[in-house]
Amino acid sequence: MRYTILSLIHKALRRGLSENLLSLQTLEFGQADHLKAFEEAAEFTLELLHHHAILEDTYVWPLVKEQAHSLIHHLEDEHLEDAKLIAQCQAGIKSLVAAQSELAFLEAQTRLVWDYSALLAFNLNHMNGEEQQIHPLLWENYSDAYLQQTAALVGSKNPPELFMPSLKLFIRACTQAELMAWYNGIPPEAPIKSLVGDHLGVQTA
Ligand SMILES: [Fe+2]
Repeated sequence: MRYTILSLIHKALRRGLSENLLSLQTLEFGQADHLKAFEEAAEFTLELLHHHAILEDTYVWPLVKEQAHSLIHHLEDEHLEDAKLIAQCQAGIKSLVAAQSELAFLEAQTRLVWDYSALLAFNLNHMNGEEQQIHPLLWENYSDAYLQQTAALVGSKNPPELFMPSLKLFIRACTQAELMAWYNGIPPEAPIKSLVGDHLGVQTA
């Protein structure tokens, strides 16, 4: 079994987006704590998804662009479509939070459930396509050790404020084996190495 560079982040995004949608569906008008928790979690997941698309475009697609021009062009176009869906959901969250009456709240919630469902459906298919088409191309051209190093490098390019919540989401979304493969790819001198190790319960000498 070869190293699957996109699996960790994609599992985290599947879990994050799904949890946001399920939380949204059970929200009721006047539940301030539930609304705040949904707002923070959804804004974080949307931000993570947005940055993930930029990181794929910047660091992963160039690795295979020469032999798969039209595929990469298609995936970049899907990222543009995704950016529109993300912006729609971000605007919908603002409307929900601003709703002052039960009727306004219910209308905003209904629209946002549709928009969030569309975003989730789009990304489930988009991520399948990426994994099914990009992983084999990477395996043809790069070693697992190189791909693990690349995964660690790409992960370190996320904005610092996304790092801790991302790590917690990864731990809830992935298997221990996947998390350890990621951890092992982080260079020993990287500042995040011991932080990630602590959260994964890795015993260091
Ligand atoms: Fe993507």
